[in-house]
Amino acid sequence: MNNSIYLAPSLLAADFSQLDRQLAAVEQAGADWIHLDVMDGRFVPPITFGDVICSAVKKCTKLPLDVHLMIVEPERQIEAFANAGADYLTVHVETCPHLQRVLQEIRKAGMKPGVTLNPGTSVKLLEPILEEVDLILVMSVNPGWGGQSYLPIANTKLRQLSLWRKEFNLSYRIEVDGGVDVKTAKAAVEAGADVLVAGTAVFRGNIPHNIQALREAIQ
Ligand code: DX5
Ligand code: ZN
Repeated sequence: MNNSIYLAPSLLAADFSQLDRQLAAVEQAGADWIHLDVMDGRFVPPITFGDVICSAVKKCTKLPLDVHLMIVEPERQIEAFANAGADYLTVHVETCPHLQRVLQEIRKAGMKPGVTLNPGTSVKLLEPILEEVDLILVMSVNPGWGGQSYLPIANTKLRQLSLWRKEFNLSYRIEVDGGVDVKTAKAAVEAGADVLVAGTAVFRGNIPHNIQALREAIQ
């Protein structure tokens, strides 16, 4: 079992009318983290939820909360998500002119800082801050919606981040997010991903079966 690879179901695809049961189901089925997609209707068109839902999720699971901020001015939400129990707080490089300072503030607030980039953004933008992060999230879809197809360009970035981690002797985790399923997961892991975000592939249909199928797909 390739258990060093973490599975982070994305709540965006969950049934919000029974969130506590959906969380219990993914936890019992062996998920490692819970991925929360926060969207503000400005950085991306949809609006999803904020720290209030994060607090509610915190009460329903023991799993670490991996919060993905698809919002402008993310620095304004650091304290709220720290109070809401976020374990990882990930910001988009495209929304942070003062990225190094934002990452420091996230760590000062007691969370693990993460950074992420859109498919059209060069991974070179991350080189100056590799030592500031515990997590780098590579978007394999354009952010805003679940159920999209995986963009293979993500694998080039995963390979580069894996090389840098070895070359500079760093320990950030490498996460991939969007269109991850039984067909795309293995190539993502081979390229260097060690955390897989999956929404549709986990929540559509039988959750235990879906999680088992993803685990088998990366063997
Ligand atoms: C998209 C989100 C992803 C998405 C993944 O903006 O960041 O986490 O919910 O959903 P699937 O796995 O269905 O592509
Ligand atoms: Zn996400």
